[in-house]
Amino acid sequence: MLRPVINEANVSQPERAVQRRRNDLKSTRFSYADFAKQLAQEPLSTGAIAPSSQLLARQVVQQAALSEAKTVVELGPGTGVFTEQIIKRLSHDASFFAIELNPTFVEATKNRCPTARVYHDAATSLPEYLQKNDRLHADCIVSSLPWTIFDEEEQDQILNAISDSLKPGGVFISIIYLGAKFRSRGRYFISKLPAHFSLVKSTPTVWRNLPPSQVYRCIK
Ligand SMILES: C[S@@+](CC[C@H](N)C(=O)[O-])C[C@H]1O[C@@H](n2cnc3c(N)ncnc32)[C@H](O)[C@@H]1O
Repeated sequence: MLRPVINEANVSQPERAVQRRRNDLKSTRFSYADFAKQLAQEPLSTGAIAPSSQLLARQVVQQAALSEAKTVVELGPGTGVFTEQIIKRLSHDASFFAIELNPTFVEATKNRCPTARVYHDAATSLPEYLQKNDRLHADCIVSSLPWTIFDEEEQDQILNAISDSLKPGGVFISIIYLGAKFRSRGRYFISKLPAHFSLVKSTPTVWRNLPPSQVYRCIK
């Protein structure tokens, strides 16, 4: 079949801008196949079967109230789906960085969000990176860490690092996959939240995500 010939001169400027943006996205976004490859190579830390959906990302940033925040941290950004939405909503004087364990995902997030600072390290090193960024505390910490792959001791270590790093009144946002509630490690994580935060709330399940997920909003 012959492809229609597009005469560049007949394409309006906004259409060309949209096309350019689409091409940019094609080259900077991690595909489902790339994600599946990471899952096969790093099954013990990837913890998901696909990148998060845009709908879940919007729920996350909505819960995070980012426009007021001066220091925002993301843990386990993966392919940068949340990072992209977070950065769009930060005020001009806010500081942001992310910590990611898998070097391939570090690169994926940097490619997608070239202005983001992404450190290749474990979430437990969060206090060190706050110090490195001349910050005593974070206003908001967003996590898509796969809690059910961490044992109870690891969960306690990460939760301690998060609650110690948040300022009083600071917000911790975490996604929890629906299936996690049926697993003892998922239940352990949810049961520990009230020990660290004065207020714990969750959204209804976001079904348009693989797997379906809830967003937990916790206030220190
Ligand atoms: C469920 S995936 C994140 C999916 C992400 N929202 C996206 O859309 O691509 C969990 C991420 O946490 C990272 N991770 C796992 N353990 C970690 C740890 N201890 N510290 C930092 N990142 C970790 C994984 O490498 C992975 O990128």
